[in-house]
Amino acid sequence: MSTLVLGAGLIGSLTAQALAARGEAVILADVREGPGPTHVQRAVCDVTDRSALSSLIEQHRVSAIVHTAALLSTAIRQDPLKGIAVNIMGTANVLECAREHKLRRVVLASSTTVTYTGFGSHAAQPIAEDLPLRLISERPASIYAACKLSGEHLGHLYHDLYGVDAVSLRYAAVLGDLGHVTSVPGRLLQTLVRAARDGRPVHLDDPFLLWGGREEFVDARDCARANVSALDAQAPVQRVYHIADGQWHTLGDFVAAVQRIHPTLQATWPQHLRTGFAGFAHQRPAPSDVRKAQQELQFACIYSLHDCIAHWGNT
Ligand SMILES: NC(=O)c1ccc[n+]([C@@H]2O[C@H](COP(=O)([O-])OP(=O)(O)OC[C@H]3O[C@@H](n4cnc5c(N)ncnc54)[C@H](O)[C@@H]3O)[C@@H](O)[C@H]2O)c1
Repeated sequence: MSTLVLGAGLIGSLTAQALAARGEAVILADVREGPGPTHVQRAVCDVTDRSALSSLIEQHRVSAIVHTAALLSTAIRQDPLKGIAVNIMGTANVLECAREHKLRRVVLASSTTVTYTGFGSHAAQPIAEDLPLRLISERPASIYAACKLSGEHLGHLYHDLYGVDAVSLRYAAVLGDLGHVTSVPGRLLQTLVRAARDGRPVHLDDPFLLWGGREEFVDARDCARANVSALDAQAPVQRVYHIADGQWHTLGDFVAAVQRIHPTLQATWPQHLRTGFAGFAHQRPAPSDVRKAQQELQFACIYSLHDCIAHWGNT
């Protein structure tokens, strides 16, 4: 039996590596060809092609899936239909294949962005996974977040209607490998590190890379650990979990963390920022509540923002 990791990007590759390191048979599949980590078999598979996905599962006697394949927020903004096809229909295909092949568990990659519109009316208390959902006033503020929320709902429904054991993990803003950057937080770190290495001052003025108040970040290595914990969890009753460390940081904190590694970095940005992270309308009122991930997945982050920037900002 093997575990199939869908999406050979930042988090999928680290997850496959973590599973292989503990001796499991792992298949890492992506729409693009490429090398896999050591002891990980690579395959090419488009998650929008359900019959190809089903054959892959059969061929490798897959018993569980970690589904990270997606278009991220910048890519989906540029090509919404492709993003909807991959992020919604791709996830539906994964769940349908889990039903067809009676898989033991499916872990779906979601995002804390699904909660961001609630920030306008939320009090300054930890953001619960089950925050009040006012369907119109607090609808998702991006197509990306709408797709992620749909994935969570489909996961719940496949569980309720067909007994598919699906668990969604809402990662905070993920920091990781700076080689091929697809995410907003990755782009911010890359912008600062490149400026420091080139020895030139940088003025941050892209609204996506700025935020007022504070925001939470997570190391991609912790996301991979969380995926493994979610595969192992004995009784994941809530089925949706925040993957974050309960800390939140200003843009100044973030720049200071990069300056610890690259002391010559000079960065400026507009003062009195009103918007939240990645151009979302509201500033975060509190960090995410992470207690359920600790209780039900036995998962807690081990890398702080400083550890994370020290590791990835120096690669
Ligand atoms: N990076 C972040 O800040 C962040 C935050 C929260 C949630 N997430 C979610 O975590 C997951 C993994 O993110 P990541 O940072 O590793 O992204 P990534 O861009 O590094 O990896 C995504 C991978 O999916 C693949 N893919 C795209 N379309 C596909 C298709 N049709 N079939 C198969 N593969 C396809 C891409 O080729 C890519 O390798 C995604 O679902 C993402 O939405 C990421």
